[in-house]
Amino acid sequence: MNSRYDLLYHELLMRDQEHILRFYHELSDGSRKMLLDQIESMDWARLQRLTKEALGKEASVPGELSPMEAYPWDTYSPEEKRYFEELGWSKLRMGKVAAIVAAGGQGSRLGHPGPKGTFSIGLPSGKSLFQLQAERLLNLAARAGCPIPWCIMTSPDNHEETVRFFENHRYFGYSPKDLFFFIQGELPALDEQGKVLLAEKDRLNLSPSGNGEAFLALERSGILQELKKRGVEWLFYYNIDNAIIKIADPRFVGVAAHYSHPIATKAAYKVSPEEKVGILCKREGRPAVLEYTEVPFFLTQQRDADGKYLYGLGNLSIHLFQMDFVERHLSHPLSYHAAHKKLQTVDEAGHVMMPESPNGYKLEQFIFDYFPLADEMTVLVMDRMEEFAPVKNKTGEDSPETARRQVLDVHKRWRQAAGVDTGNWSDDKLEISPLDSYAGEGLEPPAE
Ligand code: UD1
Repeated sequence: MNSRYDLLYHELLMRDQEHILRFYHELSDGSRKMLLDQIESMDWARLQRLTKEALGKEASVPGELSPMEAYPWDTYSPEEKRYFEELGWSKLRMGKVAAIVAAGGQGSRLGHPGPKGTFSIGLPSGKSLFQLQAERLLNLAARAGCPIPWCIMTSPDNHEETVRFFENHRYFGYSPKDLFFFIQGELPALDEQGKVLLAEKDRLNLSPSGNGEAFLALERSGILQELKKRGVEWLFYYNIDNAIIKIADPRFVGVAAHYSHPIATKAAYKVSPEEKVGILCKREGRPAVLEYTEVPFFLTQQRDADGKYLYGLGNLSIHLFQMDFVERHLSHPLSYHAAHKKLQTVDEAGHVMMPESPNGYKLEQFIFDYFPLADEMTVLVMDRMEEFAPVKNKTGEDSPETARRQVLDVHKRWRQAAGVDTGNWSDDKLEISPLDSYAGEGLEPPAE
């Protein structure tokens, strides 16, 4: 008695999770050790609490909702636009903005085996998402005359591969001293009854615990303090999988700085009520996002007196957070959401199996659950064509193909606006490097 196994078995028994040791006695010594190490590294009391909270939540009770006030960029006058842009540039010139990308997800819908940022959507250049993003930032930083710290959130699963990818590509020209990698945490996936799933006989099925962990993970890594030391005031947060993301966009920075609310977000109207994006709204009078997986169907269908969808404002996951807001709310516990997924597990005979339909839950924190902590938020409505090309699925909507088409269409619009004559070249072969143009500027042919 009192062996390591006994102690852990007892702990699991108390939490109703002892089933994860059911294959223990048939394992090799190495596998036994690996499984016990994994079990020992978990905070089981915490997991029990989170599971109860996430699985116990009543579905379809969003509380009292109202639409969110938003400023469409197009309704500003040319003078106002110039003012915002100049304000944004001044923040970039003073080094007040850092970028944070959530790149810890597993990208299971896309089916790409590596980190999502290493994926190429098939542009003529073959550039990966990481390279496109690095080059956009380098363009801005060069024009601002000031580096932009770029913080990349990975997970234990994809960290090494991500860092190696950057090393192998010489950081795409980014200075390593302005590039920060940090690792988020993981939690075990659960079956429908809240029991922890094994991925194999000797291994728990762990998954990253959601992008809501970004700020805490940033602080744990010491990077938040470093950014503060550098005088950063705004944290530009975005998803890795937006192929056309305008990272640290000076116009957006300028609008956020002007209104000076703790958080600003870029939004766009949903293409259809069914589109898989969160809904920006006010909940109990406070800014909020209702995630598309959780929002009741009838809400997506409600219209106002003019026939417009009442809750049609989509969350593009492009946010600016004020540094002091983030610091003040770091210790605020965000709640966990249970995402219903297809999860690898082992059957009673110990065979690894991948189900055809969702068989359990991942527990995740969502970054936008910080929104209700702000009294007010700035919502800037943009032309989605220029801002949002998500790469989520292997084929069909939000796929590499739709994203590539959109990027090339945007580049064509930029060329046309600048009066570039491309002769007989096919539009599919013409791509503009982010090093040459961030948002269509600088393409005009030189005067004769
Ligand atoms: C997300 C938003 C949704 C928004 C949509 C826009 C969340 C919870 N939902 O949905 O409201 O409309 O993007 O495209 O953000 N990630 C991590 N660690 C994790 C989990 C995810 O870094 O543990 C990253 C992913 O790599 C990705 C981003 O977070 O960059 C979004 O995750 P994903 O699961 O793809 O969210 P969506 O369902 O697309």
